[in-house]
Amino acid sequence: MPKTANIEDLRQRARRRIPRFLFDFVEGGADDEFTVRANREAFGRHAFRARSLVDVSTRDLSTTLLGQRLELPLILGPVGLAGLLAPGGERLAARAAVKKGALFTLSTMSVCTIEEVAAAVPAPGWFQLYIWKDRGITRSLVERAKAAGYTALCVTVDVPDMGNRERDVRNGFTVPPRLTVANAFDLLLHLGWVLRMTRSPRATFGNFEDSKALTRRDAVSVAAYTSRQFDASITWADLQWLRELWPGPLVLKGISCAEDARRAVEHGVQALVVSNHGGRQLDGLPAALDVLPEIVDAVGGRAEVILDGGVRRGSDVVKAIALGARACMIGRPYLYGLAADGQAGVELALELFRKEIDRTLTLLGCPRLDQLDASYLRGPGEAPRLSLPAGRTSTG
Ligand SMILES: Cc1cc2nc3c(=O)[nH]c(=O)nc-3n(C[C@H](O)[C@H](O)[C@H](O)COP(=O)(O)O)c2cc1C
Repeated sequence: MPKTANIEDLRQRARRRIPRFLFDFVEGGADDEFTVRANREAFGRHAFRARSLVDVSTRDLSTTLLGQRLELPLILGPVGLAGLLAPGGERLAARAAVKKGALFTLSTMSVCTIEEVAAAVPAPGWFQLYIWKDRGITRSLVERAKAAGYTALCVTVDVPDMGNRERDVRNGFTVPPRLTVANAFDLLLHLGWVLRMTRSPRATFGNFEDSKALTRRDAVSVAAYTSRQFDASITWADLQWLRELWPGPLVLKGISCAEDARRAVEHGVQALVVSNHGGRQLDGLPAALDVLPEIVDAVGGRAEVILDGGVRRGSDVVKAIALGARACMIGRPYLYGLAADGQAGVELALELFRKEIDRTLTLLGCPRLDQLDASYLRGPGEAPRLSLPAGRTSTG
């Protein structure tokens, strides 16, 4: 088998290993997927300004995030149902992150529970929270995350309702997945995945299994299940309520304009994730990278800024950091690794990023990640439009 040279190769391996409906669940975005493509293409509009004759014989890729030192400036973003890609998926990804010096964020919608993931690693990373309609359940999630030792609460604010993921509608994607006439052939072609999943203790939202209010024994469509739980009435006032429940650092994920960034800082938020949810929510939002400068400017150093969406190369990470991000969050790239080869696949994804960031810094003439600034980039106007190779314009 040919070697895996980059994240795109890992994506191709993932595509072969898991059923089509699951690959589509990972890959898809909302509506026409304009924002999914925009996230990726934005990186091509920035070209580097390299320096020559700089001593780059040793490089430092580390950063600090909310006071925590990371060997790699990467956060594995919260993804729901990662445990469907490999048994114990969230535990595997959390372990891989620890091993490679990155940070893991556990989703509210995970298959493994808050406690299972915390027990799998020496110290858990961040917990991502959706503020549920039922504030009792929300409170209990926060208390469980606190008791389990998660270091920051990452509140996702771009989901007043679920985005329109048409691939899932078309595929009749359900949780847990069930055998239907339509997917029988797909499952037959991926018997390895079916067999692997029979070893998994569950194939549904682990954090709610015990909750009478949310447990459903029957398979329901993902869209129907989750839209019932999202609360479209959440406002900034709810952050105050959370502040009282959670004394630790608060991170807001899903900020996409300067006004919201300023408000977040006024509400004492310590970090912001500039994100459009990987193009899975409001289609038509600009690329996360394109709004990064306006948000860095609005925040003015009063909070840490993280870039999320479309990051597939170490050079993308370097560009985002040069534009003022402290670290990048990745979603699909590590899911490709998880689907392709479990924990080893996530480690491979992180190792590919590490090598690429390292090489980029070397060739750029910048030995330390924390020395990067906008002077290492040419503005969008100055850069030749770098287009992605054919067939690479989608998420990969
Ligand atoms: C399959 C999948 C599930 C996701 N589930 C969540 C989630 O539960 N909570 C959340 O805040 N973001 C979720 N996201 C969004 C990611 O955290 C992240 O914002 C996005 O994947 C970044 O874009 P990228 O995939 O291009 O790296 C999900 C993304 C994917 C692909």
